[in-house]
Amino acid sequence: MTKYSQLIKTLEELDLLKTKSYLPEFLDKNKKNSDFLISSLEYILSLEVEDKKRRISENLIRTAAFPFRKTLDDFDFSFNDSIDKDYIMDLATLRFIEDKKNILFLGNPGVGKTHLAVSLGIKATQYKYSVYFTTCHQLISKLNKAQKENRIDKQLQHFAQYKVLIIDEIGYLPIDRQGANLFFQLISKRYGKKSTIITTNMTFGAWGDVFNDNILASAILDRLLDQAYVVKIVGESYRTKYLAVNKKSAG
Ligand SMILES: Nc1ncnc2c1ncn2[C@@H]1O[C@H](COP(=O)(O)OP(=O)(O)O)[C@@H](O)[C@H]1O
Ligand SMILES: [Mg+2]
Repeated sequence: MTKYSQLIKTLEELDLLKTKSYLPEFLDKNKKNSDFLISSLEYILSLEVEDKKRRISENLIRTAAFPFRKTLDDFDFSFNDSIDKDYIMDLATLRFIEDKKNILFLGNPGVGKTHLAVSLGIKATQYKYSVYFTTCHQLISKLNKAQKENRIDKQLQHFAQYKVLIIDEIGYLPIDRQGANLFFQLISKRYGKKSTIITTNMTFGAWGDVFNDNILASAILDRLLDQAYVVKIVGESYRTKYLAVNKKSAG
């Protein structure tokens, strides 16, 4: 791309359409310095573009309600052999969002499921995808409350709209019958249209118990797994290791 076409693109990105329309005439009048002017304008406006991107990402991160801000750079891939770094880096290309596929992280507590889910969510906000993080328990509570207050359609629509919905900790707490039904409706609405990232400590075989209904659980799993990346993590808890090291150095 020439410097000039880059400048045009930047002006469009910043919505400076008047400036864009004046630009040819302005450069015609300054032919002697046009190369310098193009470079200078492009440089100074690129700073504005960067700042705009940062502000958009910051807003999306705030909306996403992540429980913490950790990225893939903060993730120690050498800690756990069962996590394939190439596989995770491929997920980090975010092509799963364009392909409307889901990601399921399975494993015991402390192995890094939430960290990986949040990292991918943060990365998605950097590319302007809308993201929302919720624990399964919070989600079910909100759905049940909306049902009670006769605004369930709106609430389902709200959760259905995000390009990426992260549902953390399926299986930590039991889910009542109505909650399980509403959860199924939400997953059905998102199916094939939006990406959902799930973390769970339960094997799929145990989801019948989690949702108190085998048929409903398998209907939910059918939709979630139809187009999905499944990441099974085994091994010890990073939390426990970290605490053990800290205790040792404290004692
Ligand atoms: N491989 C890792 N490298 C760096 N930090 C890790 C790693 N695995 C887990 N952690 C950290 O350990 C804590 C527990 O991880 P988390 O993702 O919450 O586990 P899970 O969701 O599987 O229970 C978090 O603070 C997380 O950032
Ligand atoms: Mg977790």
